Amino acid sequence: MNKGKIKLGLIGGGPNSFIGIVHRIAAYMGEQYQLVGGVFDIDHASGIAFAEKLELDTSRAYESLEVFIEKELALPADERIEVVSILTPNFLHHSMAMKLVDAGFNVICEKPITITAAEAVELEQLVERKKVVFCLTHTYTGYPMVRQMKAMIAAGAIGKIQKVDAQYYQGWINPFIHDKDKRAQVWRLDPKKSGQSCCFGDIGVHAFNLIEYTTGLEVEKVLADIDTLYPDNPLDVDGTALIRTKDGVKGVICASQIATGEENNISIMVYGDKGGLKWEQENPTYLTYMQEGKPAQIFKPGNPYNAEFAQESTKIAPGHPEGLFDAMGNIYKGTALAIRGEKVREGAFPGVKDGVRGMKFIEAVLESNKQGQAWIEIK
Ligand code: NAI
Repeated sequence: MNKGKIKLGLIGGGPNSFIGIVHRIAAYMGEQYQLVGGVFDIDHASGIAFAEKLELDTSRAYESLEVFIEKELALPADERIEVVSILTPNFLHHSMAMKLVDAGFNVICEKPITITAAEAVELEQLVERKKVVFCLTHTYTGYPMVRQMKAMIAAGAIGKIQKVDAQYYQGWINPFIHDKDKRAQVWRLDPKKSGQSCCFGDIGVHAFNLIEYTTGLEVEKVLADIDTLYPDNPLDVDGTALIRTKDGVKGVICASQIATGEENNISIMVYGDKGGLKWEQENPTYLTYMQEGKPAQIFKPGNPYNAEFAQESTKIAPGHPEGLFDAMGNIYKGTALAIRGEKVREGAFPGVKDGVRGMKFIEAVLESNKQGQAWIEIK
């Protein structure tokens, strides 16, 4: 075992998980982590088989989080798993993160951080008390051109921000939503597993996060119109939220999982009085910079004209596209610096505060819709 690497555990992320492979590759990319063990699957036998496949010590493929914590804490500190990634469905994030943080583990958690804002605040307080590193994987913040956008906005490239617009469009729920039996196959449509929201909890929150991440503005109020499509479907699958920031900037967040034919079309546009910036994740290596009366410019990763933050976030020469795995890799890289107690750049990885903001946004969206599209403050 290479003692220099950070020992990583996974909860979920096993053989049939969607996001597990992204985390495993991301952890490998910066050569900072070594996957050691975890609770890889809800089914223990499947978790052990997975550990065997990865040539891990199967005695560290545990049957539950409780056993994981007990057995890992019993090991000498230099052998113990140091950071645990929580990759389970949403309803498990809060209880698992609370237990892990309380036991002193650093945590990398999938979004949404919890199911309610109150739970997120409770977790934030525990993270502060326990002084552990907590990363929330809003993956899109790891793209070099998103980081370039953040740096350009901070440097005044677009002047005073006048308008923000972020969208996340998917269509994958469409084939399930119109048939009640098929709906039951989707845990994201089950309030017990997904939480209070499907569309805004799953993807609208990414768009919200991208706005606050790139602009540094804080969304103060929302007015939302969301749709469940059928009265007997409890959770939203589509919606639009008008937003206003503390500085009075107006904008819009659109999210949909019934936008037929769309895959992972998340985009962000920020317009200022001197220029505008546009980024779309399905073409992640292109950042468009627009200025009055000038031809649009395309910024691309790996070039020395980019800000230091964007340059640090790419591993390969210009023209070789990097994507979602690399973005997650950058978030893991930032988290590794924090775990090692090294200097971490602002924005290197999203944290528990972003989780609290996200949950407050989701609850404000739901409340606004419930009140017949009223403006609701995010407190
Ligand atoms: P999934 O359904 O594909 O996988 C869930 C995994 O959790 C499975 O391996 C399952 O066996 C495991 N699991 C369930 N209960 C468990 C338990 N009690 N103990 C241990 N393992 C358990 O779900 P998916 O799509 O991978 O989503 C997982 C989380 O990742 C969700 O919270 C989702 O919102 C988030 N996600 C984030 C993305 C991003 O862009 N950051 C993209 C996709 C998902």
